[in-house]
Amino acid sequence: MAPTADKAREDGRQEMRIDGYTKFWQKDANKEAEVDTTIRLDSYSDVVNGYYDGATELYEYGWAKCFHFSRFYKGESFAASLARHEHYLSSNMQLRAGMRVLDVGCGVGGPAREIAQFSDANIVGLNNNDFQVHRARKYTKKAGLENQVTFVKGDFMKLAEQFGENSFDAVYAIEATCHAPTWEGVYGEIMKVLKPGGVFGVYEWCMTDAWDPSNPKHKELQHQIELGNGIPEMRTIRKSREALLSVGFEIEHEEDLADRPDEIRWYYPLEGDLSKAQTLWDLFTVWRMSWSGKFVTHSALWVFEKIGMLPKGTVDVGETLKIAADALVKGGQTKLFTPMYLVISRKPIQN
Ligand SMILES: C[S@@+](CC[C@H](N)C(=O)[O-])C[C@H]1O[C@@H](n2cnc3c(N)ncnc32)[C@H](O)[C@@H]1O
Repeated sequence: MAPTADKAREDGRQEMRIDGYTKFWQKDANKEAEVDTTIRLDSYSDVVNGYYDGATELYEYGWAKCFHFSRFYKGESFAASLARHEHYLSSNMQLRAGMRVLDVGCGVGGPAREIAQFSDANIVGLNNNDFQVHRARKYTKKAGLENQVTFVKGDFMKLAEQFGENSFDAVYAIEATCHAPTWEGVYGEIMKVLKPGGVFGVYEWCMTDAWDPSNPKHKELQHQIELGNGIPEMRTIRKSREALLSVGFEIEHEEDLADRPDEIRWYYPLEGDLSKAQTLWDLFTVWRMSWSGKFVTHSALWVFEKIGMLPKGTVDVGETLKIAADALVKGGQTKLFTPMYLVISRKPIQN
């Protein structure tokens, strides 16, 4: 169905993969039944890599080098909020000096660098996307953290094969394991590479338990979130909890942080409403998500792709990002979706 590997560019991206990304979906949710979800699940590497080969630079330009959401306090800057979200996970996991920690699905390493500085732990970032691994290494060297934070290419569905069992004191995953074809698969691998007594912390992307698969509007929202974010299949909070327990984790703390009664909602930067920007500098971040900001970005992408400065298919992936932004805001407003189901769980000492 979709094209697989072709010749990689020097930067690690593969044009055919980007160009093939949208073929994994019917844009019209009503025709979605014509596309077999199992194809996306079986081809999860091509789905995710096609998406991130096209979306990485857009994320960095339009958001930050940390590819995740966060809660906001009044007057808190966008950058401070992202960092606080990472510190919150680190402190709930009690990460500290001397620990060897795995960051599963590490993006371009923004959270790994921040958490390393915050906790003094040594961090290994794992990512299946060559382009992001290159960038993560470059930014980390620039920050002078290359002895504390390292990056490897690998698939989080095969962690034990790559690292061996019982090899990390702690593992965390920030908005990454939603890309897995099954949660049992990825959580099971995390369980294997953790030392007995080791801690796993995750911010998971989920449909909330209010989401009803028999409701066509809810199904459409799920479909838009999948298409716009390179996710083979969006699943519920209940399924995440069940998968963690089924592979043997002991859950110590769980909370949907999106359910806190925050005045400034987690999705506000996506709304593109300049009046909601919390600081002067954040006006620019919010503007990029406004109608005019999206128009400028899209036009620039179109020109860059036409003259060959960006790989073919980048404009199409950019289009899906617009669908993503609208769907995520809708999912947040209706509380049918959360990007921050926090779970802190532990591998039993004896298993
Ligand atoms: C939304 S990004 C989050 C990145 C990072 N945690 C952050 O917060 O900046 C999801 C990440 O998961 C990675 N990923 C997806 N599927 C993967 C897989 N099978 N193995 C390893 N990494 C994967 C993607 O390449 C991407 O870097």
